[in-house]
Amino acid sequence: MPIRHPLLADLPAVFAVEQAVFGSHVYPDFFFRQAFDLWRGLFLVADGGDGELDGYIVGATSEEAGVLWIVSLAVRERCRGQGVGRALSAALIAAMRARGATAVQLTVDPGNAGAVALYKTLGFEAVGEEADYFGEGEPRLVMRLALGG
Ligand SMILES: CC(C)(COP(=O)(O)OP(=O)(O)OC[C@H]1O[C@@H](n2cnc3c(N)ncnc32)[C@H](O)[C@@H]1OP(=O)(O)O)[C@@H](O)C(=O)NCCC(=O)NCCS
Repeated sequence: MPIRHPLLADLPAVFAVEQAVFGSHVYPDFFFRQAFDLWRGLFLVADGGDGELDGYIVGATSEEAGVLWIVSLAVRERCRGQGVGRALSAALIAAMRARGATAVQLTVDPGNAGAVALYKTLGFEAVGEEADYFGEGEPRLVMRLALGG
C-alpha cells in the first residue's frame, strides 16, 4: 500500500474509489482535477499495486493562517482495517507539518464512529458541531489537530 501523490492519469481511479465508497453522494469527477491543480502537495493516494487505488485523501488550504483542512478521505471497503486510512492521514498531516501548518481541521459525520475514532487516535479534538452543515439532516462535527512547534 505505497502512499504517493497522484499523477494526472490516476484521477479516474481516484473517482472510482469515491464512487465505490460514497455511492451517489460524491464529489464530481472534475473536483479531483481541481484538487490536483490546486493542492497537489496535499493530495495522496494509496496504490493497490493492481492498477486500482485502495484509497485517497485530499487536503486543502484555508482562509485561516496556518490552518490546513482534510477535505476528503476514503478507503475501499475491501481494504479497510489494515491501516490504509491511518497511513494516508498520517502522511498528509506530516506533509502539512512540513509546510508549516499550525493546525489541521476537518468535518466528519458525528455518526461515523470509525472515522471519528481514527481522527481521535491521531490527536484531533472536537471543537464544534453544526446540525445542518451540508443541508438538513447532514450534521458535521468539526475536529481540529493542533500541530505544536
Ligand atoms: C474511515 C476510513 C477512512 C478508515 O479507513 P481504514 O483504512 O479502515 O482505517 P485504518 O485501518 O487505518 O484504522 C485506523 C483507525 O481507525 C479507527 N477505525 C477504523 N474503522 C473503524 C471502525 N469500523 N470502528 C471503530 N474504529 C474504527 C480505529 O481507531 C483504527 O485504529 P486501530 O487499527 O488501531 O484500531 C474508512 O472506513 C472509510 O473510507 N470509510 C468511509 C468513508 C469515510 O467515512 N471517510 C472519512 C470521513 S469523511
